[in-house]
Amino acid sequence: MTGFRPAYPLLTERLELRPHRMDDLDDLFAFHSRPEVVRYTPWPVRDREETRVALERKLPQGELTEAGQWLVLAIELRETGTVIGEVLLKWASEADRQGEIGFALNADYQGKGLAAEAAREMLRVGFEQLGLHRIVAVLDDRNTASAQLLERLGMRREAHHLQALQFKGEWANEYVYALLADEWRTGPVSPRPGSAGSDQG
Ligand SMILES: CC(C)(COP(=O)(O)OP(=O)(O)OC[C@H]1O[C@@H](n2cnc3c(N)ncnc32)[C@H](O)[C@@H]1OP(=O)(O)O)[C@@H](O)C(=O)NCCC(=O)NCCS
Repeated sequence: MTGFRPAYPLLTERLELRPHRMDDLDDLFAFHSRPEVVRYTPWPVRDREETRVALERKLPQGELTEAGQWLVLAIELRETGTVIGEVLLKWASEADRQGEIGFALNADYQGKGLAAEAAREMLRVGFEQLGLHRIVAVLDDRNTASAQLLERLGMRREAHHLQALQFKGEWANEYVYALLADEWRTGPVSPRPGSAGSDQG
């Protein structure tokens, strides 16, 4: 495979997942600037200029040119057009068809099932469009909101690595969750036939 571009538009019941645009800056700054959102993300609290620089890096990440790269999509609330978060998929290995998922949501929009809706669509892209065999998620073991989301998605906790990395100034333990393509196909997590997210081809 020479590269990968998802079959846009990626629509779910309430959301559109799409490449970032420069006019997403205000919406992105609204959550990149919040300590409670970035507590367990790899990036720090950002001011507006730092958010602008980060946004510029995301602009070409709506497609992949080679394994090793992250697909980074804006989560847009269809009703208002607001970007409420971002969802990511790493094409970790071409030969072994491995991927990794990540997500972050503006705290004002958490607790509504929206992150799960976006992550489920990204899993669909990974398994059904990119042809991945296995998708993992790696998270700080204190990030209970993220662990609960992964379990709601049907992902299995496979590992608990103690003091696996130095994270924001302290040793952190890591959970690894995973889902196989077969589990996606047969499990309860894939979008229902006929739902908005399942008929994008
Ligand atoms: C991890 C994160 C994305 C989870 O977001 P979330 O909104 O809690 O996750 P979900 O979309 O699964 O929403 C589930 C919640 O919505 C509620 N909900 C309300 N309406 C719902 C609906 N229609 N469908 C499903 N759930 C619904 C659920 O009951 C659940 O609430 P609870 O947590 O009080 O039990 C969010 O906490 C976040 O962005 N954290 C900061 C960034 C981060 O740490 N990212 C992960 C790095 S590994």
